[in-house]
Amino acid sequence: MRFSYFLLFFLSVLFSTFILTSAETIDHNWWQTALIYQIYPRSFKDSNGDGIGDLNGITEKLPYLKKTGVDAIWMSPIFLSPMRDIGYDITDYREIAPEYGNMDDFQILVKTAKELDIRVILDFVPNHTSNESDWFLRSVRREPGYEDYYVWADGIPDPNMPDVQKPPSNWVSNFRGSAWQYSEERGQYYLHQFTIGQPDLNYREPRVHEEIKQVLRFWLDQGVSGFRVDAINMLYEARPEDFGGRYPDEPRTGIPGTTPDDYNYLKHIYTRNLKETYDVVYSWRELLNEYTKMHGEHKLMMTEAYADVSDLIKYYGNGNRDGAVPFNFAFLGDIHNTSNAYDIKLVIDKWMTYMPSGKTANWVNGNHDQSRLATRHGSDRVDAMNMLALMLPGIAITYQGEELGMTDGYVSWQDTRDPQACDTDPVHYALSSRDPERTPYHWDSSDHAGFSDTTGRTWLPLADNYVTLNLAKQLSGRSHYTFYKDLASIRKKNATRYGDLETKAISESILVVNRLLPGSPGIVGIVNLSDRDQVVNLSSLRLLPEKMAVVATGVDCSLDKGMPLSKAYLPISAHCAVVFETLTNCC
Ligand code: NOJ
Repeated sequence: MRFSYFLLFFLSVLFSTFILTSAETIDHNWWQTALIYQIYPRSFKDSNGDGIGDLNGITEKLPYLKKTGVDAIWMSPIFLSPMRDIGYDITDYREIAPEYGNMDDFQILVKTAKELDIRVILDFVPNHTSNESDWFLRSVRREPGYEDYYVWADGIPDPNMPDVQKPPSNWVSNFRGSAWQYSEERGQYYLHQFTIGQPDLNYREPRVHEEIKQVLRFWLDQGVSGFRVDAINMLYEARPEDFGGRYPDEPRTGIPGTTPDDYNYLKHIYTRNLKETYDVVYSWRELLNEYTKMHGEHKLMMTEAYADVSDLIKYYGNGNRDGAVPFNFAFLGDIHNTSNAYDIKLVIDKWMTYMPSGKTANWVNGNHDQSRLATRHGSDRVDAMNMLALMLPGIAITYQGEELGMTDGYVSWQDTRDPQACDTDPVHYALSSRDPERTPYHWDSSDHAGFSDTTGRTWLPLADNYVTLNLAKQLSGRSHYTFYKDLASIRKKNATRYGDLETKAISESILVVNRLLPGSPGIVGIVNLSDRDQVVNLSSLRLLPEKMAVVATGVDCSLDKGMPLSKAYLPISAHCAVVFETLTNCC
């Protein structure tokens, strides 16, 4: 009897030690302060000389990302696709596009990333598939079980020509023109909120939910650490049942200059941000949480939606149910090259104000749909914007090349690949093309910028300035990259990870970001947005210790790293973004 008590005691000590040790080695909160690097696989690194980036190219460059200080990579879609929307039109969610590699390459990528402690996040595109997907082909044929996988509707008679059928509603695709396409074979229209080749899945059909969950499970079983969820706010459309049996027309915005073919012609009240969407996100969170329990690692979900902040925050959860981290695109849409320190402070404060307490913020400086940071804001604001994204609390997301200040490339009409531009004409295409920000990464000044050793052409042309603006040139000395790398390492300090945030616009041109944590040195970032050198006095920040040293300097700064200074006298040159660490602990 005594022996079995002893055995029980011994086993329970052993068991709890084991649990503790394994729990201690896992950083459950890795995602809350993660630096996530977005890779656009087609343009990152070509390993086999076909002019197209691929998985082996990414694997080859993982050590570079590790040295840079990246915690996770998010790869734009790598799945089988006819590439009409460059991979956002998926034929088979479980297969790798052959030009990117195969499943073995993917597994090597994940294994290498794990060894380097870099998490892999996949792009998950639940709103639509390709029109070449097996599900769609079956749905066109009305195969039993698949009839309602997509949003199908009969045409409506044209009042002027009774024999002619019109699309079911006036809805417009994001890429121009009617969002409805007629299928001769099925004798009905299908909805496509993007290209004709991207039919919308029907989330009113329970089987679709199950299919999509299986896709999530499939990739979680492959060891990925989470998903970036594409076009989440387009998942649902209004139900015909609620509108007398037909899809309701959307009202006009009245935006001058728009035509009925333009997406901005209509207010998308029946095709975007429907309340049903949030529960789906919460249910995916529950699925991910099962894997968190199994793998002992938090599985991240970040949702993509361009919407009002009041709608975005609903993705975080609803009090009872946990959700995702909604991308914060305020740096993309609300900050411009003329924004002053007051404007930028308000943009930062807005997210922090609306974000439910206890949730994780995030800051996005670029992606494959937006003109590059250096082109949008000007090269002299690259350091400032990178500094803000990496010094603010929460997740920072960097689109490949923003750490170098890469600019948009020139892509002629003949070379244009983006469907959003191809759907226009040779005169207007540049206004809507996303190809300029998708041109290949600049590794060095060799042929094709070290992106590819193809003897032919790269899939998109390189930006002309790759000879002078490339990673090799920025690896040492004062450069956008070395500043970024320093920021990434400062991000790992306690004050930047856990400290309180204070943002202060000292004047129109001086913005200060202060991160203070009791018991740790404080971190202070200062940006001078103006063309003149200025002296900044931070004496009014009373909790900030008196003495500090420079720990990171942007390309326009005259201060040197290591320089000790007093908070009352900080000379900041024009366009300089600089970070200080206090010499004593706060507070
Ligand atoms: C958002 C993606 O970022 C974009 O590139 C794509 O065209 C649309 N969603 C459609 O999937």
